Amino acid sequence: MTGDPTRPLHAPRAAAAGGPGLFITFEGGDGAGKTTQASLLEDWVRTRGRNVVRTREPGGTELGLRIREIVLHHRGHIDPRAEALLYAADRAHHIATSVRPAVARGDVVIQDRYLDSSVAYQGAGRVLDANDVRALSLWATDGLLPDLTVLLDLDPAAARRRLDAADKPFDRLEAEKEEFHARVREGFLSLAADEPGRFLVLDARAAPEELAARVRNAVAERLG
Ligand code: TMP
Repeated sequence: MTGDPTRPLHAPRAAAAGGPGLFITFEGGDGAGKTTQASLLEDWVRTRGRNVVRTREPGGTELGLRIREIVLHHRGHIDPRAEALLYAADRAHHIATSVRPAVARGDVVIQDRYLDSSVAYQGAGRVLDANDVRALSLWATDGLLPDLTVLLDLDPAAARRRLDAADKPFDRLEAEKEEFHARVREGFLSLAADEPGRFLVLDARAAPEELAARVRNAVAERLG
């Protein structure tokens, strides 16, 4: 065996999809409006004559749906490292079997959540080392980064009001305290500051149509 076995996982490669297609992700706290914006973008990209694959993590595959059930609804404690590995397992399978083939075909993949969610929730939220969590996801996906990541930024108190108004039972992550969600928010903002070329950061309090227009502009530049 070569290498130092005590070294953490390292990810030598990290690159945008680089195929004929595009890989676009939506990120942000629970209640920020990602799903609404992903749907509006999907409609618009279709009007441009491009094939769209709309997907999400966790749960973009049949295997992923089973993992989603565990991470969101398991009763009782899940160790933070186990939680990070479950999200990474979902991601590895999803990217290899669905996202990479779609980008290679020339499709536009529009995805709710990706590796930045792991760095924000398991890294900042659960207080695992952010570099390790990112490296784990990059290993899981053989280094795939999105061409564009839209971060819908919302303060946790406003997000909680939206979730309360939706009147649905909270999942394991949504049920976390406001301090947890405040760390997640800071985690996302710090990721966006590190990679300004990949991220479009939007104030999620703006009107949905205004946000959609900003997203369309960013995507239009990349669609060519
Ligand atoms: P959602 O699909 O309804 O947004 O729920 C997914 C939940 O899982 C959400 O609370 C964020 C969380 N999550 C992580 O903690 N880590 C991850 O890597 C991903 C993709 C999601």
